[in-house]
Amino acid sequence: MTVHWGILGAGKIAESQMAPAIGAAPGHELAAVTRREQEAAQRFADRHGAQRAYDRVEALLEDDQVNAVYVATPPHLHARETVLAAEAGKHVLCEKPMALTTGEARAMIDACQANGVMLTICHYQRFNARHQRIRSLLEEGAIGQVTAARINFSDRFPPQPGVWHHNPEISGGGPVMDLGIHCIDLLRFLCGPAESVAALVETLVDSSPVADTATLLLRLASGAQAVVTSHWTTANHEPERANCLEICGTEGSIVAAPISAKDSAGTLQVLTTDGVRDYAVEPGGQRPHVALLAAFGDAVAGKSPNPIPGEDGFAGLAVVEAAYESARCGRRVEV
Ligand SMILES: NC(=O)c1ccc[n+]([C@@H]2O[C@H](COP(=O)([O-])OP(=O)(O)OC[C@H]3O[C@@H](n4cnc5c(N)ncnc54)[C@H](OP(=O)(O)O)[C@@H]3O)[C@@H](O)[C@H]2O)c1
Repeated sequence: MTVHWGILGAGKIAESQMAPAIGAAPGHELAAVTRREQEAAQRFADRHGAQRAYDRVEALLEDDQVNAVYVATPPHLHARETVLAAEAGKHVLCEKPMALTTGEARAMIDACQANGVMLTICHYQRFNARHQRIRSLLEEGAIGQVTAARINFSDRFPPQPGVWHHNPEISGGGPVMDLGIHCIDLLRFLCGPAESVAALVETLVDSSPVADTATLLLRLASGAQAVVTSHWTTANHEPERANCLEICGTEGSIVAAPISAKDSAGTLQVLTTDGVRDYAVEPGGQRPHVALLAAFGDAVAGKSPNPIPGEDGFAGLAVVEAAYESARCGRRVEV
């Protein structure tokens, strides 16, 4: 069964990652796209071989050829567009953060369930080949009992004219919603769910309505402790340092970077008393977006489970909300 995609919001991430991934994934084709201006939509369609271009989401959702949509608009539109897509009978792959709040996320999950369509969240780091290897290593007990994890995903990102990320009504927050949500999801994928969080979410540098610097201290359901740092105030001259994870256990530790590689390329080392085992991936490895699409297609065809269900996106947002609450009240908050 071919997945005929419609992209809602054919902007930057659709241009750089998803449209090329759809073109590269067997059994997937790009049928239609939207942008706010018809001519811009048509140009995108022409660049990526889509058959139709629209300037309204509603028009694309009436397109009978489309059986799945990729929601790639800014976060404030994810809930509305996912619910509309579900009501139109389309499966949904939604960009992160899934929504602005857990309330919106629940409405999205309910709408997709009520209309019998699948809702998948685009936490593509789960399909980075190195992260999949880490998960296998942890399951095999390569570092014993996991007791601690640290993930940092940061950059220097001051407010810029025309960029929506610093508008909380559009983005839902600062770096925690933008970059931290990736770390929170990766932590869930590798080490299991979070139980409670204590956080500092502060404005240190930029005059902006969203906080620019965040540190989260998490207790996981397994009992392990984790630290997630997500800043827009730290210059990222070296992705290996500013975009990395470390998982530590009773028998050793695992270090890997960068977490955001679009071809799985990067370092992965397992350090134990036996020495250092190297699982680095050279550039040109598994493309997480293509692998995610393959898993999405298999799930739509009923061959395998939904790879990243809406409940996983909901769980990430619940951690973000608990972190903001903790930062406000100065106490640890249950997730
Ligand atoms: N997974 C990842 O690693 C990753 C990376 C980057 C972004 N993302 C996520 O992907 C989503 C889109 O990000 P992006 O960087 O691609 O955004 P973008 O290029 O700024 O915008 C995406 C699309 O939404 C439309 N749009 C922008 N602002 C809008 C507004 N205020 N009202 C209505 N439509 C608006 C744009 O319209 P026009 O086409 O008309 O300009 C464009 O089609 C976000 O949720 C973001 O967090 C994920």
